[in-house]
Amino acid sequence: MINDSEQPFAQSSKQPDLKTYAARRTMVATMVAHALVFTFTCMIAYSVVPGSSLFSWHPFLMTLAFVLFMTEGILMFSQQSSFIRGDRKLQVRSHWVFQVMMLTCAILGCMAIFTNKNNNNVAHFTTAHGRLGAITVFLSCGQVLAGIGLLYPNLIKNFVSLGQAKIYHATFGLLNYTLVTLDLNFAMRSDWAVANITGVAWYVCVACIDILALVIMTQITTHYLPRMRRQRQ
Ligand code: HEM
Repeated sequence: MINDSEQPFAQSSKQPDLKTYAARRTMVATMVAHALVFTFTCMIAYSVVPGSSLFSWHPFLMTLAFVLFMTEGILMFSQQSSFIRGDRKLQVRSHWVFQVMMLTCAILGCMAIFTNKNNNNVAHFTTAHGRLGAITVFLSCGQVLAGIGLLYPNLIKNFVSLGQAKIYHATFGLLNYTLVTLDLNFAMRSDWAVANITGVAWYVCVACIDILALVIMTQITTHYLPRMRRQRQ
């Protein structure tokens, strides 16, 4: 239910309530993000049929890792459309559980493509997607390890303040998400993707990952980082 004070034009000055507009815009954007996560994950699962070959596990597990778990783990903190609202402790716990699942799927997905290439005597890390993918998985491991420092601040208190550590975590998270998006775009240009995801479906997949990145980056830069900075002042 929307009460009168939340109506955009309900104020006596007839001026639109900009805060309400911004909140609604964020809510719509994050609801769209949930839909894009679902669409991309289903389209990759449908195209690759997980379990149909050793290779099939790579795109499927990487999509679970970086599109489903990483993105939903970040959206967990959205004030407007998180599945858990108002319970900060539960949000934090769900965030790190999702990031641990992200890393587990990423490592398994890497093992699948690595073994598949070995079985077929194909050289490793020869494409932009493969090279950037290796960097992305490495950075994601670092990001999860750094997250442990936020969970147990005693471990890091001699090196950096908790406030600073939170800002670094969000900033590196932003960088990592940018690299993930770039690498997913490279993946969509791989020989397999171009041959197996054709026509409109290919454009829908690319639109999903790129629009998703815009929403997530906006959430981190306009909501999370400024809040962290305010808390430090
Ligand atoms: C951000 C998520 C992803 C990461 C981090 C990632 C990582 C990697 C890595 C490290 C390799 C090279 C393995 C080696 O050379 O031994 C690779 C290969 C490959 N990946 Fe991904 N991958 C991701 C998502 C995807 C997706 C969604 C697809 C399909 C649409 C895909 C398709 C391929 C293909 C076809 C190869 C083999 C050819 C090549 O080396 O480029 N990947 N990936």
